[in-house]
Amino acid sequence: MRVLLGVSGGIACYKVAGLVSQLVKANHEVRVVMTPAATQFVGPVTFEAMSQHPVMLDIFDTGLGGHHLSPVEHIDWAKWAQIAVAAPLTACTLGKMANGIADNALTTVWLALPPAVPQILCPAMNTQMWENAAVQRNVAWLAAQPQVTLVGPIFKRLADGDVGIGGLAEVPEIVTAIAGTGVTGE
Ligand SMILES: Cc1cc2nc3c(=O)[nH]c(=O)nc-3n(C[C@H](O)[C@H](O)[C@H](O)COP(=O)(O)O)c2cc1C
Repeated sequence: MRVLLGVSGGIACYKVAGLVSQLVKANHEVRVVMTPAATQFVGPVTFEAMSQHPVMLDIFDTGLGGHHLSPVEHIDWAKWAQIAVAAPLTACTLGKMANGIADNALTTVWLALPPAVPQILCPAMNTQMWENAAVQRNVAWLAAQPQVTLVGPIFKRLADGDVGIGGLAEVPEIVTAIAGTGVTGE
């Protein structure tokens, strides 16, 4: 299966390296697109090594210095994906997805995804952020889209020390949700 993984800038970024590892071991192809904020948490080299593929960071990064083979690689990646997983999904990127904003590589690829491609969205954030009315409105809109499956957030002790809702779903739960879409692919 060809899995597009969108990583946005939350503290749970490091956990997603384990997800990539599991997917690759299960013989899935994984391509990772990161927001600039995500690279503050985990370097792209980690995801490049684990996915055995260049990470997309910047849609304008063409030419000899970049990894890009085509100036519209963001569209190529969106067409390539059989399933798209956003983990961790920040409040910010979630809001952009719900409002059709495409101002970085992740949000641009996401907006270009064909509607038939299943999306597994795994939000993770501080409890107050999750309960914010604007975030809840955005989540409700996304969850109502037929191609979207929301996984988490879960109740746990969060990185900020609070105990509450907002944790990234555990990797096995995300893997189960991916399997549950019924996409098999080669
Ligand atoms: C240490 C630290 C941890 C953060 N963790 C989260 C988080 O778990 N979830 C979240 O939505 N934002 C978190 N943020 C805030 C985001 O990084 C910030 O909103 C950023 O603009 C998100 O950009 P992106 O969605 O483009 O990646 C955190 C910020 C810092 C400094």
